[in-house]
Amino acid sequence: TDFPHHFPKNFLWGGATAANQIEGAWNIDGKKLSDAECIKGAQPGTSHRPTLDDATLSSIEEAVNSDSEKLYPKRHGNDFYHRYPEDIKLLAKMGFKAFRISLAWSRIFPNGDDEQPNEKGLQFYENVFKEMHKYDIEPVVTLSHYDVPVSMTLRYNGWASRKAVTAFTNYTKTVFNRYKGLVRYWMTFNEINTGASGFHATGALEDELTTEDEKLQLRYQALHHQFVASSIATKQLHEIIPEAKMGCMLARSETYPATSDPNDVLAAQRANDLNYFFTDVQVRGEYPEYMNRFFAEHHIKIQMEPDDEALIKRYPVDYLSFSYYCSATVSGSHGLNFTNADQVKVSNPHLSATDWGWEIDPVGLRIALDDMWDRYRVPLFVVENGIGAHDQIASDGKIHDDYRIQYFRSHIQQMKEAVKDGVSLMGYLTWAPIDLVSFSTSEMSKRYGFVYVDLDDNGNGSMDRMPKDSFFWYQKVISSNGEDL
Ligand code: BG6
Repeated sequence: TDFPHHFPKNFLWGGATAANQIEGAWNIDGKKLSDAECIKGAQPGTSHRPTLDDATLSSIEEAVNSDSEKLYPKRHGNDFYHRYPEDIKLLAKMGFKAFRISLAWSRIFPNGDDEQPNEKGLQFYENVFKEMHKYDIEPVVTLSHYDVPVSMTLRYNGWASRKAVTAFTNYTKTVFNRYKGLVRYWMTFNEINTGASGFHATGALEDELTTEDEKLQLRYQALHHQFVASSIATKQLHEIIPEAKMGCMLARSETYPATSDPNDVLAAQRANDLNYFFTDVQVRGEYPEYMNRFFAEHHIKIQMEPDDEALIKRYPVDYLSFSYYCSATVSGSHGLNFTNADQVKVSNPHLSATDWGWEIDPVGLRIALDDMWDRYRVPLFVVENGIGAHDQIASDGKIHDDYRIQYFRSHIQQMKEAVKDGVSLMGYLTWAPIDLVSFSTSEMSKRYGFVYVDLDDNGNGSMDRMPKDSFFWYQKVISSNGEDL
């Protein structure tokens, strides 16, 4: 028997973004604030970069009362809200088959649970989808990408409350009905696993909590609500748009042992299990046994309603999408307690790192693909992969980003090896085709794009777009279906 030698026909080549990092227009046409828009950029003269996980009730309240776009970079993004026709045209020029955006829940239901949706918000995304279809670009849509409406946080503490399930699934039903015929590929929660480490994915503040176990209790309860909401949304989608597919979205952290010491190997296995927990629930439809021990040892009690487990079992996702940027390496030398906090991360001497310390590991992508295909047997979709770098405009006025080309080339080569290994792969979306505001640091200077955006960390610049060398390279990759690298 033979094996596949090429990427499948209809492979979804493209790129990915998120509303809070591109749109701007945070208070326009009826939109209200999301949590992400309450996080400040770095203050001049300090190296501290605030993250959403630093957020407290008082910092959020202060942000709500500020109208400054400059202080809060996710309020201006890269102005996609006004420039989307130009941006989509650029993507079409590269030959994009698919483009991933997220919907800002707070643009459609400004407070999260309003009686009626905001028509101008719904219209905006309809316009964007129609613009994509003009060029035969398939929209791939994330329903929640790190931007809970701030009103949900202030009134209910976000996903800590069961009320979020009702509000969110009212929003999902609304958008499935509205975008029927326009969107086939959906996913529920971006990098759902990151909700285990902080506020940014669940909008649940931790002000009052002092112990690590109390924080874990809050986070895993919030995540349970997201699992339930995801299953309800999957059920709705299949009823409303039968031909559409729902995915989950995992930040895949491929974790290696620091040495062949069995304690290190076990530490890596535990780390991988904690990462796979989320896809075990969302793809297999069950809480895995190994989490019972984890929950018991951390005094976590997940409150469930009688039908929750049956619902999760009955409505798993159709495909598994994930982000992949780097791998991690852990040591188990200090004991093995199986918590996030206990993993000791060490650097991997075989890999080099980006300016932000992310260890570049293309082979890790192949390992991740092979492992996940073995474990789950559902189609996989790489929906984020990319390199944040400081780009310089050269004396010829251009950006020669060969490091970015090299990063993508080596990852696409390894992805192809995984296809040859037999992995069922739907597509490959790079993060991010057009420079945008970094999620973790709110910098503009951590650039990912094939297209440069003239904007600095303090919000100054024309926002004009300019293709980098990688733009023309990716165009060639797509037109050759990944053969000409
Ligand atoms: C992923 C997120 O974690 O990584 C994106 O889904 C994010 O929102 C991307 O932008 C890159 O991270 P950062 O922090 O460099 O923007």
